[in-house]
Amino acid sequence: MNKKSSIWKYVLILAATGVVATVGGKISQGIVDSMHESTQLPPMEPATADAVAREVLNLKCAACHAQDATYSKFLNFFSLGLMRDHVEGAKRSFTLTPDSSIRSGNVDYLKMDYVLRTRRMPPASYSAVHFGSRLTPFDVAVLRQKYKESGAAARTFAPIAPAVAPASELEAARIYLGYLLYHDGRLSTNNQVSCSSCHDLTRGGTDNLPKSEGVPGPDGLPQLGGVNAPTNLNAAGHIRQFWDGRAADLKEQAGGPPLNPVEMGFACVADWDIIAHKLSNDPEIEALFAYVFGDRGINADTITTAIAAYEQTLVTPDSAFDRYLKGDEKALTDTQKAGMKAFVDLGCATCHSGPALGGISFEYINTHADLRALATPSDYKEGAFGLRDFTKKEEHKDMFRVPTLRNVALTAPYFHTGSVNSLQEAVSIMMKTQNGAGLNNEETAKNITRFLEAQTGKLYGKPANALRPEDVKLKPVIPQS
Ligand code: HEC
Ligand code: HEC
Ligand code: HEC
Repeated sequence: MNKKSSIWKYVLILAATGVVATVGGKISQGIVDSMHESTQLPPMEPATADAVAREVLNLKCAACHAQDATYSKFLNFFSLGLMRDHVEGAKRSFTLTPDSSIRSGNVDYLKMDYVLRTRRMPPASYSAVHFGSRLTPFDVAVLRQKYKESGAAARTFAPIAPAVAPASELEAARIYLGYLLYHDGRLSTNNQVSCSSCHDLTRGGTDNLPKSEGVPGPDGLPQLGGVNAPTNLNAAGHIRQFWDGRAADLKEQAGGPPLNPVEMGFACVADWDIIAHKLSNDPEIEALFAYVFGDRGINADTITTAIAAYEQTLVTPDSAFDRYLKGDEKALTDTQKAGMKAFVDLGCATCHSGPALGGISFEYINTHADLRALATPSDYKEGAFGLRDFTKKEEHKDMFRVPTLRNVALTAPYFHTGSVNSLQEAVSIMMKTQNGAGLNNEETAKNITRFLEAQTGKLYGKPANALRPEDVKLKPVIPQS
């Protein structure tokens, strides 16, 4: 694809995306807009506005952000490598041809608006030597207008939707069966390790350990996972599952742990028969399988279908932030509101956007500083390289699936390395790695931390930080025969 047509496509996509007017959406657009004054545009035909926007992207952005952007090795030498850094850095962060398998939702648009609002692009070091490349207030207004029409601003933030009540007895039974399996040690070789061992709903859907403890190894001690266990609360909306995205959805994900030698201990696909056999000896479970799945039987497919159906219901609406988005101004304290503004101003709300505040894109962890250099435990041996571990594509090295920040106050320790215990420290590290802001900006980090504490929602109507084991029990569903 040549430069012109890819930009054309980008503008078309910008213009074609419809506006979803949710309550929270309108307010969140207000939140972002209220923070910045904007230039008033003279009245323009939509076609003219398209043409102007295309021209600006072509003249001032494409040199670095077109998919096929290149640089002269000869001139790069004289710029002391700056040209290469510009073009390669630019293509990592954003391309004018969006790739929805990497960034879904409105992440691309949110990033675009962020750099326009903050006038971060084109980089100053480029504008200084390229006469006329600086964005004029008019350019910014035209591009932001296009962006606004896309409805992306309306979806920076959105409340978490509550789980819908099961539509039928059958569906209730499927969820209940999933609930039982989720808490069932028989999915592991030693009958002790269940999904809930590592995703405990009374611990924000995590184990609060740096590395999860699976079935015992030859030395009798629990084997440790390679990366930190993320929460499975609100995970249903994620672009893909796992830090490296190797599972497409919750059903595919649920097939992973039982056959993971370190986690639940089984080793190969044929081992599902052992699990199915153990489960079939349990009359309650057997009756539920028969009711829910008829003659499909007990196997990897039906087990993971039931677990995924249960996990779909593990959403945590009604946090203080959700109440704020729905119009309750008093739901956030002034400090939390200051934190929210900083969260928008520092660009956190581009990657951590949508209802789950994240989960919808893969992003590099070393754009402005390397996360691993700041958040790697001394005993961290094997390397996790994010999306590349799954796709095997070199350009995906160091791209990790952005975690949700819902309930993040409950899910320490942080990062895929599981090496940071304090939320405020995690925030400070993000400020440095994802924004280039100094680590010494403690006041801002503190405010953002208070804002993130407002992300603790409710599960089964109770605050997720106050759940006891009995609060997360489901009422039995007795199959009707
Ligand atoms: C000289 C090369 C260059 C030009 C020209 C340029 N950029 Fe960038 N852009 C970069 C680099 C390098 C990065 C990554 C580092 C960063 O985010 O500061 C980047 C990052 C971005 C990002 C991602 C920011 C984020 O927070 O993830 C967006 C969006 C972006 N640019 C948009 C634009 C737009 C719009 C234009 C034209 C008005 C433009 N850029 C012009 C080099 C360039
Ligand atoms: C021994 C601990 C352990 C057990 C048991 C376990 N998990 Fe996990 N889980 C993890 C770890 C560690 C990860 C992250 C692995 C990765 O990304 O490579 C994870 C990732 C996930 C994710 C992805 C979340 C996201 O944001 O990408 C979901 C969902 C999940 N587990 C659900 C389950 C279910 C369902 C079961 C039971 C079938 C289960 N887990 C059993 C430790 C465990
Ligand atoms: C360019 C995308 C991007 C931006 C911008 C960004 N983050 Fe992140 N964030 C990530 C990714 C990717 C991770 C996972 C990193 C890892 O574990 O390797 C993450 C992880 C986190 C975590 C840890 C969550 C957990 O469960 O382990 C917190 C807290 C966080 N970010 C807060 C912020 C804040 C605050 C900002 C703004 C200063 C911000 N992020 C900006 C992509 C981003």
